[in-house]
Amino acid sequence: MGTPNWANRTIFTGDNLYVMRGMNSESVDLIYADPPFNSNRNYSAPVGSKAAGASFKDTWTLSDLDEAWHNQILDTDESLYHVINASRYSHGEGMMSYLCMMGVRLLEMRRVLKPTGSIYLHCDPYASHYLKLVMDAVFGVEHYLNEISWKRTVPKNDYIQGAMNWPRMRDIILHYRASPTYKGFNQPFAPMSKESADKHYGKVDPETGKRYQLTSLTAPGAGTRGHPEYELLGVTRFWRYNEQKMQKLLEEGRIVQTAPGRVPRYKRYLDESKGVAIGDSWNDIPAVQGRANERVGYPTQKPLALLERIIKASSNEGDTVLDPFAGCATTCVAAAQLDREWVGIDLSPKAVELVNVRLQDTLGSLYHHAFVTARADIPQRTDLADVKPFITQKQWLYGAQDGYCKGCREHFAVQNLTIDHIIPRAKGGTDHVENLQLLCGHCNSLKGDRPMEYLMARLAASNGYVQRYA
Ligand SMILES: C[S@@+](CC[C@H](N)C(=O)[O-])C[C@H]1O[C@@H](n2cnc3c(N)ncnc32)[C@H](O)[C@@H]1O
Ligand SMILES: [Zn+2]
Repeated sequence: MGTPNWANRTIFTGDNLYVMRGMNSESVDLIYADPPFNSNRNYSAPVGSKAAGASFKDTWTLSDLDEAWHNQILDTDESLYHVINASRYSHGEGMMSYLCMMGVRLLEMRRVLKPTGSIYLHCDPYASHYLKLVMDAVFGVEHYLNEISWKRTVPKNDYIQGAMNWPRMRDIILHYRASPTYKGFNQPFAPMSKESADKHYGKVDPETGKRYQLTSLTAPGAGTRGHPEYELLGVTRFWRYNEQKMQKLLEEGRIVQTAPGRVPRYKRYLDESKGVAIGDSWNDIPAVQGRANERVGYPTQKPLALLERIIKASSNEGDTVLDPFAGCATTCVAAAQLDREWVGIDLSPKAVELVNVRLQDTLGSLYHHAFVTARADIPQRTDLADVKPFITQKQWLYGAQDGYCKGCREHFAVQNLTIDHIIPRAKGGTDHVENLQLLCGHCNSLKGDRPMEYLMARLAASNGYVQRYA
């Protein structure tokens, strides 16, 4: 597993695609991602323009960007490509372009997540079913864990009168593990309601006054599987615990026989109960209210309690939490309070400002001026094996590409092809062979030090380019 190539408690200001590309593989334990979503295509305007950088503005249109990502996805993950493509037919171009934006970023999230870790993707029901297909393609359907429904609002009055449909009150949070070596989670419990306690723990111990319930001490087949003699006798229920434990319970007075001839039962005290296991329907965490203390005026701010629940359940102290769409840094604040290491990324410099203000408020004297590291550069990966000399790589690439230019797909002699960084070094790219390719002189000068998306979009726009992706 990798180690982070950034300081604990760093906020990057920039496009998370490029920042994540510069992050070491398998270096975070938990990801919480709460991307923006708008039903119209405008959503990606800030993504597109900021992602591309000022120098790209004149030549890049939104559809160029989408198409370049779409092609890049086809090159890396075919099932993801087909899922995204399908959304174009069932929903439309807007959804497809949104899923392209998410797809390339989720591929990076998969890479930086440790095999023992998991990811939560926060979405709303408008896109959650599409994002679930995308997550299935990226993380694997066998790694799907939960679709959590978070009730974030109550029906508004004007909704109730003359409404055409059921009021929409919830968000969806998809939870996937990275691999079968996932380390599991810490089941949280909610306190038992008074009604439940009264209903289930109705008995009172006369000596201690403690409330308890009587539960079964037997279970079908428990502990005795593989004893065919019992099956022959028609015995189907067995003591739940082994002999030693039964003896101990008996001595502690925890086994009760309510009447002669009755099956003995187990005395379970209310004050020993962990409460009620919290399931996949969360109705107990209100959205950030107008006058709440934690409110910073960020329209999509999520409540600290929501992030606390996720972080506590799916990480341990000292683990690293990543939020690639940090917003007003709710995840970072919750992680800091829970003694986790953390890293956040946001396009807007607001995140840095807010995380400092919020941490100062919540941590008090534990906070100091160097507590948070603010960066606006792209980290350089440090986890790649030694880089081979370019001359060796060139021969190897020439063979791997069968002598074709990766841009225009024309055939060239080896001396007419030059080595190019697929992802430029300034955007998190490395000198490692997996980030290198051969381009002809024309393609190389067209691309310059821009990402591959740019070249593909430029070539697609020019007539000489034969569309490879029909
Ligand atoms: C829904 S908000 C996140 C809110 C956050 N969970 C909170 O509680 O404050 C989405 C955030 O993603 C940021 N964002 C959008 N596209 C981005 C990108 N490509 N890279 C980094 N941040 C991005 C936006 O600036 C916005 O702050
Ligand atoms: Zn070429």
